[in-house]
Amino acid sequence: MIGDKKVLFSGMQATGNLTLGNYLGALSNWVKLADEYECFYSVVDMHSITVRQDPAELRSRARKLLCLYIAAGLDPEKNCIYYQSHVSGHAELAWILNCFTYMGELSRMTQFKDKSAKHADNINAGLFTYPVLMAADILLYQADVVPVGIDQMQHLELTRDIAQRFNALYGDVFTVPEPYIGKVGAKIMSLQDPAKKMSKSDENPNASIYLMDDPDTIMRKFKRAVTDSLGAVRYNEEEQPGICNLMDIYGACTGKSRQDIESKFEGKGYGDFKTAVGESVVEKLRPLQEKMEDLAKNKDYIDSVIKNNAEKAQYFANKTLRKVQKKVGFPEKIR
Ligand code: TYM
Repeated sequence: MIGDKKVLFSGMQATGNLTLGNYLGALSNWVKLADEYECFYSVVDMHSITVRQDPAELRSRARKLLCLYIAAGLDPEKNCIYYQSHVSGHAELAWILNCFTYMGELSRMTQFKDKSAKHADNINAGLFTYPVLMAADILLYQADVVPVGIDQMQHLELTRDIAQRFNALYGDVFTVPEPYIGKVGAKIMSLQDPAKKMSKSDENPNASIYLMDDPDTIMRKFKRAVTDSLGAVRYNEEEQPGICNLMDIYGACTGKSRQDIESKFEGKGYGDFKTAVGESVVEKLRPLQEKMEDLAKNKDYIDSVIKNNAEKAQYFANKTLRKVQKKVGFPEKIR
């Protein structure tokens, strides 16, 4: 708790262009929950270097991502929006937690398996211990709730295991966090292969809607989206995964239920449905894109957000860190 509010932590990587999956699975829920919790939203740039990055590009993407949090509707006066690399506590706690996490646990992580298959020439130790840094992010702020998409659930469960293990040894040091998975949009799939999640790193640009795509591009990508030959807008996961994904997207953007969507498009072709889905996404992203343009002009304001919020995050991070350092037996600093 901070004051009388429970704590929320979440983060995103500034690698690649953010997709509609990131928005519907995470960012839109962050905005919904922001008033209820004391929130920490981090641009997790330390996680990004587990895969090789171009330094200038990483810096520029990180700044855009930070602006995107604000453009999506998170008020940086109320929510702590900051770069992970500006708060040294993340790395310090991650080291300690590394000593309370087992190799076996980390080798079971599906994201590690996927990423090491994809980057076979660079299976570095950071990629392996990535989930421990993620646990440190969350536990550092004593977060009660962590809104994420389904793909991060396994990491969340590991975070809970680490927290419980540490608490069992040293008393109640960490709050054990709960995941928050939205009812719609928690797993948005690729438009070209509905068996795969929509991902920033997909090589086929038609597979993903990027948050900065212009309306024509969005409409074109939806027109090309892979469906099936059944010709009915129905939520049939076995036989119509492409249509289910489009229904999820449409439902998340319009608030309509599956039944509403089925009856609205009863007897209509996929062409009409795809146009409606495309339009709903264009409308959803329009305010975000306009706000991004405004923020790009406001350098001093963004700089002040970066500075002030890093200080705020560091303050709360240090509180937990001191407690943990004492518990594990590090000598106290002489002040
Ligand atoms: P990242 O950067 O891959 O994704 C950011 C958020 O977007 C969600 N997401 C999706 N949701 C629905 N459908 C999709 N296709 C989709 N793709 C991505 C993710 O679930 C995530 O919520 N390891 C994390 C970042 C992280 C973090 C943390 C998150 C680091 N530390 C602490 C929460 C708490 C990651 O790589 O997310």
